[in-house]
Amino acid sequence: SEERAENETEKGLRVADGGFLNTAVIRSQITFIDGEAGSEYNRGYPIEQLALHSTHLETAYLLIYGALPTVPQFEIFSKEVMHHGVTHADAELFFRSFRYDAHPMAILTSAFAYLGSYCSEANPSLQGQNIFTKGDEASLARMDKQIYRLIGKATTLAAMAYRVRQGREFVTPPTNLSYTGSFLYQMDHMSEENYVPNPILEKALDVLFLLHADHELNASATTVLQTGSSLVDPYSAIAAGCASLYGPLHGGANEAVIRMLITIGKPENVPAFIEAVKKREKVLSGFGHRVYKTSDPRSFIVRKTADEVFNITGKDELLETAMALHEAAMKDKYFIERRLAPNVDFCGLIYRAMGFPLDFFPVLFAVPRVVGWLAHWRQASIIEQLYGNKSLIVTFFQMMLQEGGVKIWRPRQIYIGAGKREYVPIGGRV
Ligand code: ACO
Repeated sequence: SEERAENETEKGLRVADGGFLNTAVIRSQITFIDGEAGSEYNRGYPIEQLALHSTHLETAYLLIYGALPTVPQFEIFSKEVMHHGVTHADAELFFRSFRYDAHPMAILTSAFAYLGSYCSEANPSLQGQNIFTKGDEASLARMDKQIYRLIGKATTLAAMAYRVRQGREFVTPPTNLSYTGSFLYQMDHMSEENYVPNPILEKALDVLFLLHADHELNASATTVLQTGSSLVDPYSAIAAGCASLYGPLHGGANEAVIRMLITIGKPENVPAFIEAVKKREKVLSGFGHRVYKTSDPRSFIVRKTADEVFNITGKDELLETAMALHEAAMKDKYFIERRLAPNVDFCGLIYRAMGFPLDFFPVLFAVPRVVGWLAHWRQASIIEQLYGNKSLIVTFFQMMLQEGGVKIWRPRQIYIGAGKREYVPIGGRV
């Protein structure tokens, strides 16, 4: 056809693939999701094993560097990350400039971009060149430094976004607690000496962080890579990832789930809600996934974690409604035919039980996902080594699916708009 001929280019066939249902843009060694089996592997390790035996920070190392760390490797990594938790004193002014009711994701998204303005060595524009050079160990060290900074400061920025809305003083991140413990300390800390977070809640949040650390090429990871492909600094790319995550179809879904449950109210209102979903008047948040078509393995770990947390906090009053909704959807033809199952976002019930405010839930997704974004960013930055490219410079963001140069992520479109038109001055328009 004419359209086909127009879209046969010197680089191959141009296809329209809305939503990228069938488009792969990278080769990756990080995470594998088997959507039919309902399983997830981080660098080959089943997510269940990691949730049981590992910690968020150890899994972060695994995702970013490709192997579980040895004791000395982990000591260095965790020391560096925790050491980088502290922010510049001026950050206080930045946080205090937001309105009292600003959504914490709006604050966090802005905060990552703000952070970049303090890290000029990561900014290729300021350096006048790409900052990672092949064979240059200092380049890799410079890359590691941005990784430590971003993971270390993610919890600090999140806690500041939380405290500023409450008119509370900011807390210096402690370095003698775990990553998650330090985060809870910064969130909760009042004035008691020797305050320590509840160890069971700390462990539960750490497991949830680990579950959220990476999930291959989801919308936000893609956004980070797309943004980074212009060679912008990683702070700006992560801010873009945060913006993508904010939406209710992605990281905002954990907030949307609870808002939905509050709207439904009692279990007896579930059937009417399900009917409204089937008529497409409502969306069943927390259900469905682009890749998982049978079950999401994270949802089982969330359930187990919920039981552990509820033992301490007491059951959430929305739990019964959530269970009734789950049961009704799982036996309804509409959901069975479309192969829709619960995803990870019912973890909002745990966050609620732990006392986090509702609009803070997406932040609890973004903080650990910084790890996955960085793993993708680093892989893309050094992927040149995987493909044996011959160029002298390993660029900051070299997407090498083919030999021969830097590829900015610039998709094409199928144009279906008006043909050529002549400009009409405003007075002459009808
Ligand atoms: N409620 C009702 N219907 C749904 C839902 C849902 N939650 N999810 C998908 N469907 C329907 C679609 O309307 C579509 O029906 P149709 O073929 O008759 O038009 C069919 O199931 C296929 O769904 P798509 O939207 O095409 O699937 P896609 O892969 O594009 O979307 C998504 C995946 C965005 C997650 C979707 O399932 C959804 O909107 N879920 C609710 C929001 C949510 O929970 N997001 C979190 C995802 S996980 C994460 O980011 C952590």
